[in-house]
Amino acid sequence: MSEPAFDLVIRNARVATAADTFHADIGIKAGIIVQLGLDIAAGKSEIDAAGRTVTPGGVDGHCHLDQPMPPPAKMADNFDTGTRSAACGGTTTVIPFAAQAKGQSLQAAVDDYHRRADGRAHVDYAFHLIVSDPTPDVLARELPELIAKGHTSFKIYMTYDDLKLDDGEVLDVLDVARSHGALVMVHAENADCIDWLTKRLQAAGKTAPRFHGHARPMLVEREATHRAIALAELVDVPILIVHVSGREAVEQIRWARAHGLNIFAETCPQYLFLSAENLGTGDSYLGAKCVCSPPPRDKGNQAVIWNALTEGLFTVFSSDHAPFNYGGTDGKHPDGNEVTFPYIPNGIPGLETRMPLLYSEGVLKGRITVNKFVELTSTNAARAYGLHPRKGTVAIGADADLVIWDERDVEITNAILHHNTDYTPYEGITLGAWPGMTIAGGEVVWDGKQFHPRAGRGRFLQCGAPTLLPSK
Ligand code: URP
Ligand code: ZN
Ligand code: ZN
Repeated sequence: MSEPAFDLVIRNARVATAADTFHADIGIKAGIIVQLGLDIAAGKSEIDAAGRTVTPGGVDGHCHLDQPMPPPAKMADNFDTGTRSAACGGTTTVIPFAAQAKGQSLQAAVDDYHRRADGRAHVDYAFHLIVSDPTPDVLARELPELIAKGHTSFKIYMTYDDLKLDDGEVLDVLDVARSHGALVMVHAENADCIDWLTKRLQAAGKTAPRFHGHARPMLVEREATHRAIALAELVDVPILIVHVSGREAVEQIRWARAHGLNIFAETCPQYLFLSAENLGTGDSYLGAKCVCSPPPRDKGNQAVIWNALTEGLFTVFSSDHAPFNYGGTDGKHPDGNEVTFPYIPNGIPGLETRMPLLYSEGVLKGRITVNKFVELTSTNAARAYGLHPRKGTVAIGADADLVIWDERDVEITNAILHHNTDYTPYEGITLGAWPGMTIAGGEVVWDGKQFHPRAGRGRFLQCGAPTLLPSK
């Protein structure tokens, strides 16, 4: 008897890409999609997807794993637990950040990050850079060399003392991106306004977690978003504004596009599913779980972000997974101490819940098409970070990274998740869908009940040039 033609065949799939929805069998060999068609030949193993939607695996272009932190804070997820969680939530490519500390060389940050990732990842990964110290050598030599080695995107911060750049430094970094065809992701919040407000709140004894939101009102995001847009206009280079939280930043992005500027934008689950109420009331400390920056806004702003998403304002939908335990010694409530809000590590976990939240509340509730869902959670991140069409689509020659969706009720509890963080901000939300199976490089990594580990399965990806179309 002759060998089966394929390692794996997924039969009777309703395949959704960013462009189309069609019925097909998917033939996979050596981790690659090699045939799409009807009644294709047999595989060594077969999965019947009749009645179910199959999408490309998610590409999470904004997540933080095992990123070095100023002590005592420590991230709860590393490349093992973070990619485990990603896989079980339908994400098959992650792009966390090799973060340069001030005074450190960028190459040293990348080398250190490789050591953290090597042999640990269950799904494929690439590295963005975080540029916090754009010295003449970084600008003239290190950045161009690292772009050539496949780090074609970098994040810069307009806030956080240990990371922020001044406007001149932002211009310098944007200029390198323009010359070498890289994409800059901008964290847009005005640092001086935040410092000024924080000092006043502290002096008034207003230090509970909810005051984190008071120290970062929308205008600090609006001003920095506008400034980032102006700086990008000056250099004449596209940028991507990350974690857009509400109306005022949305208005700036609309304004920029109306003026013909090429500005891409990201939002995240926390701005659709959390609100300022989640930061707590009175002196309650539990709101520390939802302290992230920018902070979740009010319910009206949630609606603004949903509307902007449905209208097509956002390019990508990322988790901004920034995992810190609530309990323990190195997280949000260290050794049980209620620290004042400026000392609560910023960020929330969300790698595993990103895709099911948007599939359930976006696609199943009729707010967006399944094709838009694919574009936001997978295809556009692959394009933005130079991984398309290997990633982000279902096509012949693409990596066999797929999700078969189960449309069934699932209540989110931390117990069902696979990250190493001791809580989820989405506890108790019932969704109408969950990945019934995740396939990464042709291997089943999540079967709807169990995770199938293979540390080292995940490969490091060198990114190419961004291939996003101009923003509209
Ligand atoms: O609060 C957040 N978002 N923490 C993660 C770091 C960042 O700025 O994305
Ligand atoms: Zn950020
Ligand atoms: Zn982030």
